Formats: sequence, structure tokens, C-alpha cells
Amino acid sequence: MTETTRPADRPAQPPADRPARPPVGEGPGEFPGGPALFRLDPDVAHLNHGSFGAVPLPVQEAQAALRAEVHADPDAFFIAVPDRLAHARARIAAHLAADPDGLAFIANATEGANLALDAVQLADGDEILVTDHGYGTVTAAAARRAPVTTVALDPALPDEDAVRETVLAALTPRTRVAVLDHVSSPTARIIASPRLLAELRERGVTTVVDGAHAPGMLADPLAGGADFWFGNLHKWGYAPSGSAVLAVAPQHRHRVRALVPSWEDGHGFPRSVENRATADYTGWLAAPEGLDLIETLDAAKLRAHNSALAAHGAALLAGIPGLTPLPHTPGLAMRTLRLPPGIAETPDGARALREEIAARERVRVLIWPWPGGGGIRICGQIYNRPEEYERLAAALPAYLRRA
Ligand SMILES: Cc1ncc(COP(=O)(O)O)c(C=O)c1O
Repeated sequence: MTETTRPADRPAQPPADRPARPPVGEGPGEFPGGPALFRLDPDVAHLNHGSFGAVPLPVQEAQAALRAEVHADPDAFFIAVPDRLAHARARIAAHLAADPDGLAFIANATEGANLALDAVQLADGDEILVTDHGYGTVTAAAARRAPVTTVALDPALPDEDAVRETVLAALTPRTRVAVLDHVSSPTARIIASPRLLAELRERGVTTVVDGAHAPGMLADPLAGGADFWFGNLHKWGYAPSGSAVLAVAPQHRHRVRALVPSWEDGHGFPRSVENRATADYTGWLAAPEGLDLIETLDAAKLRAHNSALAAHGAALLAGIPGLTPLPHTPGLAMRTLRLPPGIAETPDGARALREEIAARERVRVLIWPWPGGGGIRICGQIYNRPEEYERLAAALPAYLRRA
């Protein structure tokens, strides 16, 4: 059969100069009760949990019950909000091994970046270091505050040591703040390792860590002791959208100001940051249910399962000519591969490919742009099945042949 007549779902034979890969196994079996916890569209393979998360039914129900309370007696609900938030915050802090007095509910990682960068001390001429793996909205918050130096991290850097050395080598005498991903969005790897944070601290650099993917995916999300760290609960923490937290080291707390002052402004961090006047607080109040559920399901088992699913998907995709697996941090539930030159080199190109795959194949993945060939990121979550990655692997070669 010639290349042009080979059906798209038949795996290609590796050319002679390409090492044959070991056969890919069947992938992990179902996580007991996992898929039934979600009500996702069954026609779609949702392989992109890392972008927006998904809310399990018990958490949806908890939020619905809170909404019913609001509608039944708004006065009673809103008067009790500050105390109920303090209680919910303490539950989240216990899960994250965080100091409850140093933790505030916020809406999302983007807000966390702006709060943190508003609170860092900078003088004229000081610089902020960011990396080219950083998330756009977070980097924009840094650029709004001061001139940024952008460290180029080759996606193929082999390990954490290489990442650490590259970041340290980019410091200038004017670098006062480093904004680093805990787990990077496009390349799904640890950037802000505890050792890198310690070495930045020794050099007097204030560290701001974007832990958007950390709660629920990492066993100890606050390890490393950054000056400022923010993490989304609505990605891997099973919380309703709009739920995140900002953790601030004691010496910086007095400088953190609400972006919009409200009734609790005089009460300092964290209450001043959490008060939004009349707003929807039900997501934050339901958020602890998400992290509780992860514990009930057995957090270590769930993390291992999700990581195994992502690894299964990555192994299948690695067999497609033109795709190159990128170095990854073991144990994470996201994996990423580089696309061939000519594919997804620009944001528009990446968006178009992502939407075409979604529309035609009913598979949701992240396609990220990069000069010289973008990347594809897949995630593992307990609602996924190995067949969903197989569906993607069968469809993808037809899109790559256009390169
Ligand atoms: C690393 C990283 N930082 C920040 C964000 C932004 O999160 P949010 O939309 O909740 O502000 C994302 C979202 O995908 C992300 O992956």
C-alpha cells in the first residue's frame, strides 16, 4: 500500500533510519468510579484538562446548594460570607500545607500574578525576569510593572538542572524579581524547582511562582517556599471555575493590596483581597469539596493514574512520524510533543489547528505555537480512557502531512 492510499488510522511503519519504538501497551484500566463523577459530553475526547479543569458532580452539587442558600436568604448569606470564607480557606490551607493566614482566595492565576507583582518592591531601573514558557497573562502582568528580561528556554532542555542553570545565567545586576512557572503550560515541566528558588533567594531575587497547575497535580504544591505563589483550584483541584489561591510569605503580606478596594480593605491580607462586595462567592465556598474529593479517592493513586494516562497518550503520539517527545517531569498528568516545522508556528496557526481537530475529530487538546514548529499537549484525568488517545493518534498524521 502506498503512502497516499494508507488509511489515516493505520500507524505508519518507521522509516529505516528511525529507531523502531517498543509497542505501546493498553494503558491504565478505568479508575474506579472516575468517569461517573463527571458529566462531560461523551462525544468529545477531553484530553485538555489542564486548560480549564472540569468540575465533578459532587462539587457542582455543593455549589448549587450554596447558590440556593443565596437565593433563599441573601442577607443571611452575605453577612456570613467573611467567616465562611475563613473556614473554607483553612480547609484549603490544610490540603496545601499552607499557612492559613498567608493564603487568600482569588479568582484565577492571572489575578494572582497581578496581586503579587503589585506587591513586590521595585525601584527605577529594576528588572523582572520571565521565561518564554510563561503564560501570556502572567507575563503581561510582569511587563506592566517593570521592564522584563525574557529567558529563552529551549523546550528540549534535558532536565531541571539545565533549566535552573539557564535561568540563573540570565540574571542581570538589575534583576529584582523572577516570575517562574511551577509547571509550565506549553511544555508541562517543572521550572521553579526548590533548588532554583533557593538559589534565587541567595542572590536577593524575589520569587513569584505561577502554580496554576499545581494544586491537585503536585503532592506538595508549596514546596520551595516562594515569596509569592498562586495556584488555580479550578484546574486540577476539581473546584468551580474562578477558584484559585495566592500564598504570600510573611514579610510581604503587609504590601498585598486588593486590586479593587472593598469593605474589608482595613483588615489586611488575606481578608482585604477576598472581599469583592456583592459577588458570587459560591465557587470559593465549594472549592474545598474538590480537594476533599481528591483525598477521598486516594490522591496518590489518582495522581499516578492520571500520569499513566498522559504517558500512554504520549507513547502513542511518539510513534507518529514528525512528532518529537519533549523531556518531561516524571509524575505529571500532562505530556507534550513537538510538532514538525511548518505546523502551529504562530498563535493563529496553533488556534486553527486546535479548532480543526476539535471540530472534525471531536478531540480537545492544547496546540501551542512555537517558532520552528509548535507543540501538542495532552492531559490525563480519571474520566479519560486509553481509546481517546488512540483516536487522537489515529487522526493526527493526516494533519501533519500538510507540513
Ligand atoms: C501556567 C499557567 N498560568 C496561568 C494560567 C492562567 O490561568 P487563569 O485563566 O485561571 O488565570 C494558565 C492557564 O491555563 C496556565 O497554564
